[in-house]
Amino acid sequence: MRQSFDFPADTSVLAKIGELATETGRAAGFNDNEINDINLAVSEVCTNTITHGLKNDPTRTFQLVIQWNTGEIEIFIHEAGEPFDPPDLKDPDLEASLEDRPVRGLGLYLLRNLMDEADYRVGRDGVKTWRMLKRKAEA
Ligand SMILES: Nc1ncnc2c1ncn2[C@@H]1O[C@H](COP(=O)(O)OP(=O)(O)OP(=O)(O)O)[C@@H](O)[C@H]1O
Ligand SMILES: [Mg+2]
Repeated sequence: MRQSFDFPADTSVLAKIGELATETGRAAGFNDNEINDINLAVSEVCTNTITHGLKNDPTRTFQLVIQWNTGEIEIFIHEAGEPFDPPDLKDPDLEASLEDRPVRGLGLYLLRNLMDEADYRVGRDGVKTWRMLKRKAEA
């Protein structure tokens, strides 16, 4: 199954995106804990998309695509905003003392831990795509 949505770059859409992720996660058979993980991951990427990628400009939009089957959900966020090169991002140094840790940058680290797969690519047309996938753990 596949659903696609276009949203304006306004953080007020995050509530609706949370509802969509919850409904879809439930339809795919995920439990509440797994749905919370999915919601957190989607909300983190969409927040970055809205604030960093599209600079909170509600005249610009991004696309959310959700594909799912029983026990599996895959989410794509497509956006053509500010250029962004994630290989420049290092994993946060969790061993560093608190003063030495960057205040920012934990979001992407979190993403990799919430989902089974998370990757990012930039198309030749400049469209940036985040893809994330979660599989239900075998009972
Ligand atoms: N879609 C995007 N477009 C452009 N830049 C981005 C995008 N997503 C992330 N970034 C850049 O990567 C940095 C790290 O993102 P990350 O989510 O880890 O931290 P953050 O958003 O700054 O802080 P927070 O911990 O509150 O999420 C951002 O500060 C931003 O510069
Ligand atoms: Mg962020």
